[in-house]
Amino acid sequence: MKKNKPSATAMFVANGMYYNIHQEMLQQDIPEDVKKYNAQLIEHFYGIKSKGSKRWRLFICNIVQLFSIRGFFLHFLIRKKCIEKQVKESIAQGYGQVVILGAGYDTLCSRLAEQHPNVNFIELDHPATAANKVALFKDLEWQKSNIKYLAHDLKNIDAAFKSNEINTSLKTVFVCEGVFMYLQQEEVKQILNAVNQYFKSDCKFVFTFMEESASGNYMFKNATAFVKLLLKLKNEPFTWGMKPENIGKFLESNSWYLMDIFDHQKLKRDFLSKENQHLPVAIGENVVCAINHKNGK
Ligand SMILES: C[S@@+](CC[C@H](N)C(=O)[O-])C[C@H]1O[C@@H](n2cnc3c(N)ncnc32)[C@H](O)[C@@H]1O
Repeated sequence: MKKNKPSATAMFVANGMYYNIHQEMLQQDIPEDVKKYNAQLIEHFYGIKSKGSKRWRLFICNIVQLFSIRGFFLHFLIRKKCIEKQVKESIAQGYGQVVILGAGYDTLCSRLAEQHPNVNFIELDHPATAANKVALFKDLEWQKSNIKYLAHDLKNIDAAFKSNEINTSLKTVFVCEGVFMYLQQEEVKQILNAVNQYFKSDCKFVFTFMEESASGNYMFKNATAFVKLLLKLKNEPFTWGMKPENIGKFLESNSWYLMDIFDHQKLKRDFLSKENQHLPVAIGENVVCAINHKNGK
């Protein structure tokens, strides 16, 4: 990521969701609030006011989908639905805080904050993206009293946890979606360990990770040369991943325990209607749900 520029891939994901919400066959698979918030976000960001400009934006999205990974945008939908389910279940189980690391333009906190006024929602992002996002969300009037937007570098997560901006006494569910692939393994470990060090109650961690298909290769398995070039040009290359069979051990070595893991097949099975399960999706990014059992259970 370029230091002073908002993340291009974060807006790419939001565009992907905009494409999804306009696909006729996906209507039954997308919750109404997701459709509403994502349309508002993209249309405000690009100043889309006419049918023509909307058609143009969808045309661009179509072209990008065509030249990138088959089912790339559908992958965003099912990974987001999976993460949302984990977060909602955690809130129902009494977790009082949701912290989204590298939140980008995700709409989850904005949508849930009103329904759960007693839960703290925190979106943390790299300063360049956070500043851009906060201005946008302010325009959209999505800022709620129980949402905080924090600007920190995940490579120095201690600063965020020491800052008093996050309540480290609450049972907290962390989300890190589409982010760990931009870090080094040591940096991922530091984040997992910092949660254990600073948070006094049980925490959950819902994150995505890339499968390592060959030594040092963390790319989507069905990625085209175009995607690889795009990530290189945007200076957002993938730097970390792991073989799925090693993730449990990796978590345990950092005092976290694997609760569930979703590969592309399980994501499709659980988060798409039967009629849509034949559709192609990007392969190689899995969702993990882990718990740290802080109190020695
Ligand atoms: C691919 S986007 C994903 C955005 C969002 N999580 C989603 O899935 O819609 C990656 C996000 O991670 C953030 N990010 C990457 N490296 C970061 C770092 N070192 N510190 C904080 N945020 C970072 C970027 O700013 C961006 O918002």
